[in-house]
Amino acid sequence: MTFETSREAYDAFMGRYADRLAPLLIGFAGAQRGERVLDVGCGPGSLTEVLGELLGAEHVAAIDPSEPFAAACSERVPAANIQVGAAESLPWPADTFDVALSQLVVNFMSDADAGVAEMRRVVRPGGTVASCTWDYSGGMTMLRTFWDAALSLDSETPDEARTMRYNDPDALRELWLRAGLEAVATDALVVEASYRDFDDYWEPFTAGVGPGGAYTLSLDPDRRAALREECRRRLGDPDGAFTLSAKAWAVTGRA
Ligand SMILES: C[S@@+](CC[C@H](N)C(=O)[O-])C[C@H]1O[C@@H](n2cnc3c(N)ncnc32)[C@H](O)[C@@H]1O
Repeated sequence: MTFETSREAYDAFMGRYADRLAPLLIGFAGAQRGERVLDVGCGPGSLTEVLGELLGAEHVAAIDPSEPFAAACSERVPAANIQVGAAESLPWPADTFDVALSQLVVNFMSDADAGVAEMRRVVRPGGTVASCTWDYSGGMTMLRTFWDAALSLDSETPDEARTMRYNDPDALRELWLRAGLEAVATDALVVEASYRDFDDYWEPFTAGVGPGGAYTLSLDPDRRAALREECRRRLGDPDGAFTLSAKAWAVTGRA
């Protein structure tokens, strides 16, 4: 439900990071121009767009269960093949692609083992399956600040460092090995995003995107106001523009 939203709401919250993460994930996976590439859990198209620019949009396919996101992705990369659907049941025959990527998605799959197995199935032998997830425990400052603020007000808060299973290189490596992928390697990918002011940081949470947005909408007005002020305090009460760093863990393997 938290991804049944507009591209604008997503971009203000996460797209500003995802756009910058995309070229790093593509470089890490080693995807080359002319290769056939699949973007699993494409959202409104941060990774799909960069894949289209670097590899040629006619070689790019993408899929997401969110209809508004798939529609936004189609609008953004019209020459790519965009489908509505889930990783666990990909609508392509075996060996269709040279590379399958997913950016910030495996934690949202209802069955990540099935999703990665599907990514492997649709990639030709010797092809690449790669992904990345946020370092929810520390390196993703925008989310870490939010959840630390929320935890300080309520110890029962559903902190993503606790609720997201794949948030370190060991967990991702194990997931890739269980899918039978070979030559598995992990690395850290670090990006930055800029904010005009504190409201530019806070307002996207109130649009309900992702777990942080859903949590914000679940709070009554007083608790929401307290969380807002605690986030502001933890960001150093910024007076004007600021930049936050975000670290993702990436994993790649050979089919
Ligand atoms: C944090 S967003 C990432 C979107 C995009 N990859 C990006 O980098 O901006 C997570 C995405 O996973 C999608 N998703 C959720 N469950 C999924 C599943 N079972 N299979 C594929 N994608 C899924 C959501 O709809 C959402 O678009």
